[in-house]
Amino acid sequence: MPQNPPQIAIIGAGIFVKSQYLPRLAEISDLVTLKAIWSRSEKSAREAGEIARKVFGNVECKWGDDGFDEIVSDPDIVGVIVALAGQIQVDMSLKLLKAGKHVLQEKPAAASISEAETALSSYNSFYNNNSSAQKIWAVAENYRFEPAFVESRKLVSEIGDMMSVQVLIEGSMNSSNPYFSSSWRRNFTGGFILDMGVHYIAGLRMLVGCEVASVSATTSHVDTTLPPPDTISSLFQLENGCSGVFVMLVSSKSPKIIWRVVGLNGTVQVERGNKDGQHGYVVTLFTANKETKSTFYPFSGVTEELKAFLSDISRASLQGDKIEAEARLSYIEGAQDVAVLDAMLESGMKQGALVKVKKF
Ligand SMILES: *[C@@H]1O[C@H](CO)[C@@H](O)[C@H](O)[C@H]1NC(C)=O
Ligand SMILES: *[C@@H]1O[C@H](CO)[C@@H](O)[C@H](O)[C@H]1NC(C)=O
Ligand SMILES: *[C@@H]1O[C@H](CO)[C@@H](O)[C@H](O)[C@H]1NC(C)=O
Ligand SMILES: *[C@@H]1O[C@H](CO)[C@@H](O)[C@H](O)[C@H]1NC(C)=O
Repeated sequence: MPQNPPQIAIIGAGIFVKSQYLPRLAEISDLVTLKAIWSRSEKSAREAGEIARKVFGNVECKWGDDGFDEIVSDPDIVGVIVALAGQIQVDMSLKLLKAGKHVLQEKPAAASISEAETALSSYNSFYNNNSSAQKIWAVAENYRFEPAFVESRKLVSEIGDMMSVQVLIEGSMNSSNPYFSSSWRRNFTGGFILDMGVHYIAGLRMLVGCEVASVSATTSHVDTTLPPPDTISSLFQLENGCSGVFVMLVSSKSPKIIWRVVGLNGTVQVERGNKDGQHGYVVTLFTANKETKSTFYPFSGVTEELKAFLSDISRASLQGDKIEAEARLSYIEGAQDVAVLDAMLESGMKQGALVKVKKF
């Protein structure tokens, strides 16, 4: 029996909502109905509503505390996408979860390890007496859904014992980038390193298939048009014993984004690139007998993560019971990415002291 698509709301009307969530939801409008979009201010709610209405004709614009309460008390809205300033996302997500909504929260999962810990214990204790009432708390980390990373992980299992891992991120966060002047990112502990860095850590964790155990890092602030720190160079050790380096600059004149996993029998490399006007990743396998095989995977992680969330909430409302959500969306995964960067930033403040990564 066909089910009506789930009705959702979006909380937030910033750059990412307008440039990614609305167009990606439009592409899968057979799977979802966008019932409402909310912003703190009426003006930005209406602006985003204009864009959304082209596909979701009946979308309602909501703003301010009253608008938020209307979304909370609307029983038709089963799921909510939360895409707000990093400082307030967790509080808003918890409010919605406790009001009985499934939540897909934009990364980063939290601003720090301590915020993630407090939030998780609040979430878990809320359902202590009735776990079947539990709502899904997902973190939108598109890297875990990028086909390039899903496929490279399989290749990594074919290259034998892992010897070394290198992650080199030379970003392009300059004044041409729409996020450059984002005020909340400029007032966020860890600056752009935390907000952008969780993606690259998610990519690393996907590739190696195990956790980062400890780190030792140096941070600095060179480009004063950016908030501090704007560079980080970290050694890390994985739980499987393999070591590696993670180097990230927020802004460079010749951007480059690459992960390499070197094994006894070969190397897997994932590099950001373009093909036929599409952005994506080139995945290359270098084998022991000198063969190389490259495949280009265009970006599709945001669409894939949205489909996974929608499928989870549809199943949850069919069963009317707690369901096991897609593991790659889990809040714990998002918190683990934050934990690795939080450890690197802490080590940077302690002149490179070895810091163990908190395991969620
Ligand atoms: C537990 O939650 C479920 C789903 O919300 C609800 O149907 C059920 O009545 C609750 N049970 C108790 C004991 O509160
Ligand atoms: C690695 O290469 C050696 C020698 O070529 C081979 O015996 C071994 O099976 C390979 N291991 C893997 C995991 O491919
Ligand atoms: C910002 O970086 C992009 C990508 O490297 C480049 O095309 C653009 O010219 C840069 N803008 C400025 C103002 O440096
Ligand atoms: C920066 O963040 C702090 C703490 O999150 C907050 O109290 C302050 O108002 C913020 N300042 C600006 C300019 O947003």
